[in-house]
Amino acid sequence: MRVSVIGCGYLGAVHAAAMAELGHEVVGIDIDERKIARLAVGDPPFFEPGLPEILRSALGSGRLRFSSDPADAAGAEVHFLAVGTPQAAGGHAADLRFVDAAFDALLPHLAPGAVVAGKSTVPVGTAERLADRLAEVAPHATLAWNPEFLREGFAVKDTVQPDRLVYGVRSPEASDVLDRVYASAIEAGTPRIVTDFATAELVKVAANAFLATKISFINAMAEIAETVGADVTQLADAIGHDTRIGRRFLNAGVGFGGGCLPKDIRAFTARAEELGRGESVAFLKEVDAINLRRRHRVVELAREILGGDRRTVFGRKVAVLGVTFKPDSDDVRDSPALDVAVQLKGLGADVVATDPEGIENARARHPQLHYVADPREALRGAELVILVTEWADYRVLDPNEVGDLVASRAVIDGRNVLDPSAWRAAGWRYHALGRG
Ligand code: UDX
Repeated sequence: MRVSVIGCGYLGAVHAAAMAELGHEVVGIDIDERKIARLAVGDPPFFEPGLPEILRSALGSGRLRFSSDPADAAGAEVHFLAVGTPQAAGGHAADLRFVDAAFDALLPHLAPGAVVAGKSTVPVGTAERLADRLAEVAPHATLAWNPEFLREGFAVKDTVQPDRLVYGVRSPEASDVLDRVYASAIEAGTPRIVTDFATAELVKVAANAFLATKISFINAMAEIAETVGADVTQLADAIGHDTRIGRRFLNAGVGFGGGCLPKDIRAFTARAEELGRGESVAFLKEVDAINLRRRHRVVELAREILGGDRRTVFGRKVAVLGVTFKPDSDDVRDSPALDVAVQLKGLGADVVATDPEGIENARARHPQLHYVADPREALRGAELVILVTEWADYRVLDPNEVGDLVASRAVIDGRNVLDPSAWRAAGWRYHALGRG
């Protein structure tokens, strides 16, 4: 099929390459010419495992091309809208400027029978508004809402073989077109839910709200565990064996970040308030608050460990392991790790941060921090080590070897991924979140 993808950021670039991988003829469109130039030579402007490979193979096969001109989308049977919906400046609502601009730019190029399929995470009601506009300006085309659930670090797999497909449609024709796009996933058994616009939009925000709630739930238990000397990781294992609960997304630590969960729960709350239903999701404010408290807890622990009664970290060298919001990503948007580093720096600590992939992005946002690529350099002479992003390299650090580099054997395991007994046996003061 002929497919266009409007918006080649994280979501769109992966979607365009994955669609070409599935055999479609794809054009990716973005107004950012630098982004387009890099994608066109198979060099994605962000880190995502597996993406360079499928991008290059699709470019080589001639099935994928990139352009900054919306007119190049003309002739496609399906146009995926994959632009960003960031948190609006000065508020919590989603900023729909890019969705509206992309939609408007596409309107003159829609062929008869074309389907515009929204992928962006939007406030419920957006699809209906766009469908009304389509009916006025281009009645020969149809709108569908087809939310995307990809996780960074697994984006290629999540796009080629999603857990489920959701179509918000008003006609069986639109649903048939999407079935043709995703034929290989459907043949492989991917379940699909065909529903109305509002449900499709809500599925996405509800899924993210649930995941965020699950993480904040276990982090709330961590707060209680800290007070009574219990171990939240064992608690998570024990409740996770109940198949109704499940162990996934019950990893207590410094909390969630990234470009989706934090902004999506805030935008959902803002939209529910607009609809007069604020009370229905009022708990999401608590979810957000618990999440942000965990970062402060790490900073407080650092002050207790380094500053004792005076609680001052001024001039003390702290090694911060990880700046991205999670491993296998170079994304530092709303990263708890980077927030901890910035807060400690603000208190006067001599913070040295390291990360396998995120330094460039972190430096662009927080140039005041000192970054080093080699974790050994970060650790050398440190009086406190804080593991805040659980990259594989940090999980396997040898406490004896690391102990020879640091000035003082004190560690905060902000993700509960180190073995406390091994670190204590090597003479470390080991501190975790929610483990006694
Ligand atoms: C998320 C959703 O999972 C995805 O479906 C949606 O499309 C976009 O948002 P992503 O932001 O890539 O994906 O990351 P995810 O793997 O969900 O992790 C989000 C955050 O939660 C990370 O900061 C992670 O470290 C944290 N997390 C996750 C925990 O703190 N504990 C857990 O148990 C799981």
